[in-house]
Amino acid sequence: MLRVGVLVSGGGTNLQAIIDAVDSGVITNTSLEVVISNNPNAYALTRAENHGIEHLCISPKTFDSREQYNEALIKALDDRNLDLVVLAGCMVVLPATLISKYKNRIINIHPALIPSFCGKGFYGLHVHEEVLKRGVKLTGATVHFVDEGTDTGPIIAQKAVEVKWGDTPEVLQKRVMEEAEWKIMPYAINLIANGKVEVIDGKVKINE
Ligand code: GRF
Repeated sequence: MLRVGVLVSGGGTNLQAIIDAVDSGVITNTSLEVVISNNPNAYALTRAENHGIEHLCISPKTFDSREQYNEALIKALDDRNLDLVVLAGCMVVLPATLISKYKNRIINIHPALIPSFCGKGFYGLHVHEEVLKRGVKLTGATVHFVDEGTDTGPIIAQKAVEVKWGDTPEVLQKRVMEEAEWKIMPYAINLIANGKVEVIDGKVKINE
């Protein structure tokens, strides 16, 4: 069983997609051990509660220093013996020590086709605003391992989504979530849970 912890900050629709995929058998060999939010009001915490998954808030705001917050977060993850940490709309910059300790064991979803529209400053609606500004015809989502950079880690899965004339950032965001994010995140977790993902020279080989 792949022991998974999910880090969230907001609504948690990606978390919901993961929960549903575990329930329906799209993701096998996986147990969702804990959901951790930096935001006490994140609806994602309610989603975890509704599904009987352990959930807690660890907020940088409640610690005297960033170091103390980092330590608490790492301890919470370590204590649960996780095989994989999933960032599902997690808006916190992770400590470098966590990233090196969990090398190739942290994955993130980015709402664009990396290496386009990614990197520092590209998060949330802003990504879709930039996509519309440039007029690209295809955008999408990417699941990747997290390394020290911003959106630079090995890519596990991508799915393209059509950009339509007249799209607003909000409309496009919703289409990207429905058609790409909620599908490729469960797909990637299932691959990892079943030992099908190998990282070779910074690139992912999928052994189907
Ligand atoms: C998603 O767009 C995801 O790509 C980004 O943050 C958003 C999270 O949404 N990293 P939700 O909390 O899963 O609904």
